[in-house]
Amino acid sequence: MNAMQTLQQYIDESKRIVFFGGAGVSTESGIKDFRGVDGLYHLKYKYNPETILSRSFFLGHTDEFFEFYQDKIVQPTLNAAPNIAHKTLAKLEDMGKLTAVITQNIDGLHQMAGSRNVLELHGSIHRNYCMNCGEKYSLDAVSNADGIPRCHCGGIIRPDVVLYEEPLDDVVITKTVQAINNADLLIVGGTSLTVYPAAGFLDFYNGSKLVVINLDNTSYDSKAALTISGKIGEVLGHIQL
Ligand code: APR
Repeated sequence: MNAMQTLQQYIDESKRIVFFGGAGVSTESGIKDFRGVDGLYHLKYKYNPETILSRSFFLGHTDEFFEFYQDKIVQPTLNAAPNIAHKTLAKLEDMGKLTAVITQNIDGLHQMAGSRNVLELHGSIHRNYCMNCGEKYSLDAVSNADGIPRCHCGGIIRPDVVLYEEPLDDVVITKTVQAINNADLLIVGGTSLTVYPAAGFLDFYNGSKLVVINLDNTSYDSKAALTISGKIGEVLGHIQL
């Protein structure tokens, strides 16, 4: 059997599929990834992007943080739509075959495609809150802001995203570990698996069917039962449901 036939068989015979994804799942929706061939981190900036997306930079250079965040993270997401990868995963959940989508992405495209159990390891641009009074705001309050988004109380409105130097949400971690631990098939796609603790959660999988679908090689390829070097949307788009 070729790789696609093997993937089809794995999906046909599984009932507790978990998908673990990253920025590569959204590139076919027109959103740049970070470390891929024309990723965000390869562009030239005054500061290293991973510095800009850190808690200390957010606190110390708030205006420059929001300039980068607006331009490189928010605006490219505003017109993005779910692609065939997002839609296929939502369909697998509807069929009762997929129990969770675990994503490092903050763009909300899985939910837009209809996925219900989405575990957002790094938060979401769609959830924002005032650092002073805690009032919650939608993405509009940030995307429409000129400079630093401000609450009516005067506080800074920050995105509910996990910046470097910040911890992941405990509840999301618990649910992520449970889902992976309980999975009969773990499909990993569109992620370089270079950021921790996110990548480390894969070690909680104790099944025998780890699949990695990625354009570049990853450090988990050697542990995978099946690796497919290709576009995650094209690959999942060929699955007969
Ligand atoms: N299909 C399959 N793989 C793809 C596709 C695609 N259409 N497009 C890109 N890729 C691959 C790239 O080859 C790369 O290996 O997806 C991977 C994306 O890796 P990264 O850009 O590192 O994104 P990700 O793994 O999600 O980064 C993790 O890093 O900066 C932080 O918080 C940020 O959540 C992000 C985290």
